[in-house]
Amino acid sequence: MTEHIFETFFKPCIENLENWKRTNYCGDTTASDIGKELTLMGWVQRRRDHGGLIFVDLRDREGIVQVVFNPNADKTSPDRDIRGQAHEKAHHIRSEFVIAVKGRVSRRPSGTENLNLKTGEVEIIVNELKILNDAAPIPFLIEDETDVAENVRLKYRYLDLRRQPLQKNIILRHRICKVVRDFLCSKGFIEIETPMLTKSTPEGARDYLVPSRLNPGHFYALPQSPQLFKQILMVSGFDRYFQIVRCFRDEDLRADRQPEFTQIDAEMSFVDKEDVMDIMEKLIAEIFEKTAQKKLDLPFSRLTYQDAVSRFGLDNPDTRFGLELKDVTDIVRNSDFKVFKDAAQKGGVIKAINAKGCGEFSRKELDDLTELANTYGAKGLAWVKIIKDGWQSPIAKFLKQEEKDAIVKILDAQIGDLLLFVADAPKIANTALGRVRLNLAQRLNLIPKDTFNFVWVTDFPLLEYDETEKRFVAIHHPFTAPADEDISKLDTKPLEVRAKAYDLVLNGSEIGGGSIRIHRQDIQSMIFDKLGISKDEAKLKFGFLLDALEFGTPPHGGIAFGLDRLCAIICNEPSIRDVIAFPKTQKGTCLMTDAPSPVDKRQLDELSIRLKAETVK
Ligand code: AMO
Ligand code: AMP
Repeated sequence: MTEHIFETFFKPCIENLENWKRTNYCGDTTASDIGKELTLMGWVQRRRDHGGLIFVDLRDREGIVQVVFNPNADKTSPDRDIRGQAHEKAHHIRSEFVIAVKGRVSRRPSGTENLNLKTGEVEIIVNELKILNDAAPIPFLIEDETDVAENVRLKYRYLDLRRQPLQKNIILRHRICKVVRDFLCSKGFIEIETPMLTKSTPEGARDYLVPSRLNPGHFYALPQSPQLFKQILMVSGFDRYFQIVRCFRDEDLRADRQPEFTQIDAEMSFVDKEDVMDIMEKLIAEIFEKTAQKKLDLPFSRLTYQDAVSRFGLDNPDTRFGLELKDVTDIVRNSDFKVFKDAAQKGGVIKAINAKGCGEFSRKELDDLTELANTYGAKGLAWVKIIKDGWQSPIAKFLKQEEKDAIVKILDAQIGDLLLFVADAPKIANTALGRVRLNLAQRLNLIPKDTFNFVWVTDFPLLEYDETEKRFVAIHHPFTAPADEDISKLDTKPLEVRAKAYDLVLNGSEIGGGSIRIHRQDIQSMIFDKLGISKDEAKLKFGFLLDALEFGTPPHGGIAFGLDRLCAIICNEPSIRDVIAFPKTQKGTCLMTDAPSPVDKRQLDELSIRLKAETVK
């Protein structure tokens, strides 16, 4: 109770810095400083009053050091009175006060060292104290481990960011950017900014629009990426461009997606795929070596899109563990199990996976996996438990012995294993079983820690057919070049045309993607045609690019890495929110500033905007 009254009514005397100058960071003080007089400034992590002695853990961005207020230290010293005053003042210190101390670094008495702290061998015996500012009682403690709800952390983000793990993440992010700049500059790349108020770009998400006051009824779009500008920079002859750039996409958010995120964006002239992949994997290796002290083996391994999808179910395969998918269509296409037979007859596939040693899974566990497969479109998940007496499974009775034998062989099944099957169109069967695979790996603890598995995924198809829009759409973006040897198939077998595109996948996360671009106007027009983009529409949307292509465009290509994703993996954080200083929630809001928020009618009037009645609260 006394404590509470004290916090509410007592205002300590707050002093100015005057001529005090900080000499060191708290967290940098070590045994090599013993005997030195230092001036430190920072935040009070904790104060412990041991009667005659007051201990304060003083914190700054580099860490924590223990400072001691001891009025009786060195009784003969002329500083004794000042020290007494500091001790007196120290009674008023509370958590998160900002203080400055002058004192001498001393070795901690034997037995009181704290080996968990970088500064744990030493303490500062304080001579003088200034209280530079007080702090209201804080809504949560500034601790490394916290179970405070994320919405509270985001509302008080300035306090959350005081926690060491977040400080470390943000500082590491800065170091990654520094390595990127140093490396790319050393390879002749030039950093060039591109506009934020621009025209809609074709990455495929929804745009954030910005109304133009000077041009009523007209809107800018915030860039989904600098794609078109970086291509234009190649037309202008800059040859090698990069930018660490904010991109904006209005899409449904997840742990690895933010509405505004950062790309390491690059483009190069007079190159083919191999040149881009080669220099960019060297950049990634440099980042890991300099910021994570991890030497990567180059070149990174590669998988074609076809192989990635057929073996792992997804085009962002997590290659840290096995459990690969097998195609059993040919084995079961003539079986008596109608589900399998029908799927095969309709041009679908039957994919299977061996969940090694999961033969004891309960009904509930099987139901959970089935539900997961269902969310990715599968109509069911057939299962087989291999037991001593043979197959225990609802589908066992439909399969002939030779079919069972062939399945056992292809899946390398043994007693105690659980086999899972999905029969469907290839995309659904692969995706659903690919997701089941990831889920199993987590349940079975198959994912090794501290492993960084990189894989380039190449040979993507150029196009896919969008059933809702009833037209072809570009898988990467409409400026991606088709493989030279496939151009002739554009009219006859468009879905078989491969793109000169590549994605870099790290531990199952797509951390980057790029392509060689179309640099010839005739081919670009042909692709627009295939995508059902009329000449007029193309002119309206990308006229400037089409014009530019006519004026001597060099062959060029590039890539963009998701800095947030890369950083989250290096920091071992499950969400990119923990490597972004001011992230948004799943609903795209900023809990600290309360953005987005309603605006004055006057502001809307200036922009010639009238809201629909139902949106006005
Ligand atoms: P792409 O759309 O593949 O390519 O984006 C490149 C990389 O950016 C990251 N990324 C995201 N990170 C966080 N939140 C998001 N919402 C988000 N969306 C994408 C991913 C992705 O691999 N202009 C092309 C690149 C090029 O062709 O050069 C582009 O933007 O890690
Ligand atoms: P049913 O005959 O519908 O009871 O299905 C028998 C088993 O086959 C159940 O375990 C279902 O989950 C499974 N099943 C149904 N449809 C599919 C499918 N398309 N792919 C794989 N398994 C399926």
